Amino acid sequence: MHKIDGKLVAEKVLSECSDQITALKAKGITPGLAVVLIGEDPASKVYVGSKARKCEELGIYSRKIEMPAESTQEEVMAVVNELNNDPAIHGILVQSPPPAHIDEEAIVRAINPAKDVDGFHPENVAKLALEDPSGYVPCTPAGCMRLLKDAGIETSGAEAVVIGRSMIVGKPMALLLMGKAGNATVTVAHSRTKDLAEVCRRADIIIAAIGKPEFVTADMVKDGATVIDVGINRVEDASKKSGYKLVGDVAYDEVAPKCQAITPVPGGVGPMTIAMLMQNTVQAAKFANG
Ligand code: GUN
Repeated sequence: MHKIDGKLVAEKVLSECSDQITALKAKGITPGLAVVLIGEDPASKVYVGSKARKCEELGIYSRKIEMPAESTQEEVMAVVNELNNDPAIHGILVQSPPPAHIDEEAIVRAINPAKDVDGFHPENVAKLALEDPSGYVPCTPAGCMRLLKDAGIETSGAEAVVIGRSMIVGKPMALLLMGKAGNATVTVAHSRTKDLAEVCRRADIIIAAIGKPEFVTADMVKDGATVIDVGINRVEDASKKSGYKLVGDVAYDEVAPKCQAITPVPGGVGPMTIAMLMQNTVQAAKFANG
């Protein structure tokens, strides 16, 4: 069984970014990323903090905009507009999920697609479906593809099962795996799927993105399968100082022995999401400067 080291692959991606940033800076261009956080969600705060920190480490200009939970739709739209028009900012990310009263779809549509480093804008979603390389690919599924590639997992002709159909992970993941980058035979399973365990047992590659702690159990996984665990779930753990621990969507201890390769949580997909965001931001700075 190969435990895929997401930190190691992320470092490789970041070192590639670093070279490209050096080249951009030699031309007088500093890539810039704005991260907008609305409200106080503790997990989102952690994610936004680590995104900003990674930018600073790499020499990407980063601007963190923290807005109160009571912010109005108009106030958020005004911030997005300002960032759209700011030449120092190449990438804009509004952390999801925003508070319930905010219309997230309208916010995403307001972001200039050329600065939409999340790849959530309809124009970028369409470009992904069209396999047009001028679009941005959402960071988490892009990171999963890179992990498979670096681990030497053959996706071409493989049976892949994506569990979860979100716009952030499941749908773009399925498009990447079925497209020319993956050439896999893809099944997208979700909460209404019948005989989910049976569907999963067919898979050479399982991408677990349901957001339910330790949902994928050993009986759902074929011997020799590769399992990519996208889940980051907080579960109570009195033995930890924080009072919680992080577990994935896969019951790692029982599933891992059956696998050809598997990602742990933490240290699997998580670091890749940030690395791919940095990569998209560098790409955005390149696009903006021809
Ligand atoms: N929330 C969880 N993952 C993501 C992501 O990739 N981008 C944004 N904007 N919000 C998220």
